[in-house]
Amino acid sequence: MAQKTVIVTGAAGGIGLACAEGLIRDGHNVTALDIQDIPPRLAAAGTCLALAVDVSDESQCLAAVAETVGRFGALDALCHFAAIHSTKDWLGLSAEEFNRVLAVSVTGSFLIARAAAAHMKDHGGGAIVLTSSGSVQMSGVGGGSGRGGPAYVSSKAGIYGLNRALARSLGPFGIRVNTVSPGATETPMIAEYTEEARANAAARTMLGRIGQPEDAADVARFLISDRARFVTGEVISVSGGGSV
Ligand SMILES: NC(=O)c1ccc[n+]([C@@H]2O[C@H](COP(=O)([O-])OP(=O)(O)OC[C@H]3O[C@@H](n4cnc5c(N)ncnc54)[C@H](O)[C@@H]3O)[C@@H](O)[C@H]2O)c1
Repeated sequence: MAQKTVIVTGAAGGIGLACAEGLIRDGHNVTALDIQDIPPRLAAAGTCLALAVDVSDESQCLAAVAETVGRFGALDALCHFAAIHSTKDWLGLSAEEFNRVLAVSVTGSFLIARAAAAHMKDHGGGAIVLTSSGSVQMSGVGGGSGRGGPAYVSSKAGIYGLNRALARSLGPFGIRVNTVSPGATETPMIAEYTEEARANAAARTMLGRIGQPEDAADVARFLISDRARFVTGEVISVSGGGSV
């Protein structure tokens, strides 16, 4: 695709890191956002701006967009992966944890998408990718499986509605909004999976393995590319058939 400037959130590890690395490899400008440190190999790339940003804080989201435009002169796309996991099941889950998961994963998705769209709408449009999860279809449970509990599943189901609402609102400005929905993927988020949970997750797929970070990252990169120019409002499952 033609050179773009892309904000990637959750870029310290997992799917976000894979996405940022792929974009930089292909010659794009990347602003890498996370609350954790961005790995030095990424931050050292000349076309990467690494920023410490909490996506649940609106002023930090707005500042990140302003810094991106200040550094690269443009903002064409947002690949938003930042989220937090929660495995607590219904009885052990506090209202505080439930609200924090929603604040980061749902409100944070809205805030960073709105900050990006506010720039894109006056500069020729753009593309936004949000992230849901196959756990919405799997009715993920906590316990020893490592799978998402009610807070995580609710937050990821919320992305379905946000995706459609934003796609409808932003379409007239030439801004496309889509969502990737990974199945179990080998990242720090599933570090607590037992070997049995990993094997079960692999067995549920049609392809016999769990995902690698690049699997979802590559689909996000396609969705922000001009090859996906007539795709908006969609949720694309990247689960090896494990959540269809
Ligand atoms: N790994 C899986 O099995 C899986 C499955 C389905 C969906 N997902 C989704 O994929 C996305 C990427 O997750 P991952 O698997 O790469 O896990 P990950 O934990 O490696 O990545 C999430 C990143 O988000 C960052 N983050 C958390 N809170 C933040 C905040 N408030 N502001 C900014 N950054 C914040 C974390 O520091 C982390 O680097 C998430 O949205 C996750 O829900 C993952």
